[in-house]
Amino acid sequence: MIGILVLFIINTAMAQEEKAKVLVLIYSDNGGTYELAKEIAKGIESGQNVQAIIKQVKASENPKLKNIPVATVEELATYDGIAFGSPVYFGNISTGMSEFLSKTIGLWSSHALEGKPATVFMSAGSGAGKELALQSFWNSLAVHGMVLVPNGISGYENIDKNIPQGNSVLGITSLVSLNSVERPSKSERYLAEVQGENFAKVAYALRSNEKTKSVNKVGVAEKDINQVLKDKNIVLPSLPKPVGNYELYARSGNLIFINQVALKDGKIVNPGKIGVDVTEEQVKEATTVTMLNVLAILKKAVGGDLNRVKKCVQLIGTFNTPDTYTKHAELMNPASNLTVEIFGEKGKHTRNTSGASSLPVGSSVSIQAIFEVE
Ligand SMILES: Cc1cc2nc3c(=O)[nH]c(=O)nc-3n(C[C@H](O)[C@H](O)[C@H](O)COP(=O)(O)O)c2cc1C
Repeated sequence: MIGILVLFIINTAMAQEEKAKVLVLIYSDNGGTYELAKEIAKGIESGQNVQAIIKQVKASENPKLKNIPVATVEELATYDGIAFGSPVYFGNISTGMSEFLSKTIGLWSSHALEGKPATVFMSAGSGAGKELALQSFWNSLAVHGMVLVPNGISGYENIDKNIPQGNSVLGITSLVSLNSVERPSKSERYLAEVQGENFAKVAYALRSNEKTKSVNKVGVAEKDINQVLKDKNIVLPSLPKPVGNYELYARSGNLIFINQVALKDGKIVNPGKIGVDVTEEQVKEATTVTMLNVLAILKKAVGGDLNRVKKCVQLIGTFNTPDTYTKHAELMNPASNLTVEIFGEKGKHTRNTSGASSLPVGSSVSIQAIFEVE
């Protein structure tokens, strides 16, 4: 009996691990887009192997929407696919969605969404310009290199053709101001579910391909590092800009050399001297920020595929400390731990730490890293 229970738990855990994750990301004023989102999510989860997570692009005061979690721009890169929903605004996407997409420059320049599937759905009034609006959604997602998944005429034969419906070959819409029936109408809800179901198949298939590719490349026993980042929700930042006449990384033979400080979104995180301006905990936080910068640059250096990293050879951490300070190793551990957490055995490295009386741009930490790559 216990054996059966253990097997059941292991199987359930494995099934859980195998699931692809799709974000259903919406902006909504009045809740119409959210109604469609719920049907899309239902369709996504109908095949059992994909999990749908509904989030919105900004917090809403609307009681129907205020409990929906808000997505960050960075987390977009961690999903296997994204279903985008918005109201139609003058044959276009809504200002709320447009504002959010305009913050995705970092994802765009780091190619973070390339090859990920996307599908779109919209809540409309009369439906005026709905296909222009759906297509305008596609424009932004195409620039991101996303794989756009349309509906075609999927499900069309089963809808009620006696009233106007928001069906479109690009994605479902709902015609909210044509309210002879409650909207979304039954048929619009049905098509949204079909869209979710079809999209989940694509998201799952592309995720499987990604896995197969990296398994072939690195050997069966090895973990897919890109997947490890996703599973652990480790989001690499967009690339920092050099603040002088130097390159973000240099390659010599199979070695990559990277030097970074605690720069995040153009500002230094927790700057200054330990014990004077910052605490040890704050410096550890700055160490993590610095190491994430190193890893973002490393990813760029290996063409976006961290499976090409063969070994972290050495990390050197320098901290802004008083003369008598001795606990440099503890300040550096977050960088070492992160490296081993991501790369496993390949992440184990030699290390040097030391103190300095000042560091560039006021940073409390600087890290020099050397990696061996394919
Ligand atoms: C600025 C603005 C422009 C709009 N333009 C259109 C339009 O071109 N075509 C249309 O069918 N509906 C249009 N609408 C209506 C919305 O698309 C509609 O109310 C939608 O259902 C709102 O979605 P929500 O309930 O998720 O907020 C517009 C609404 C606003 C506020």
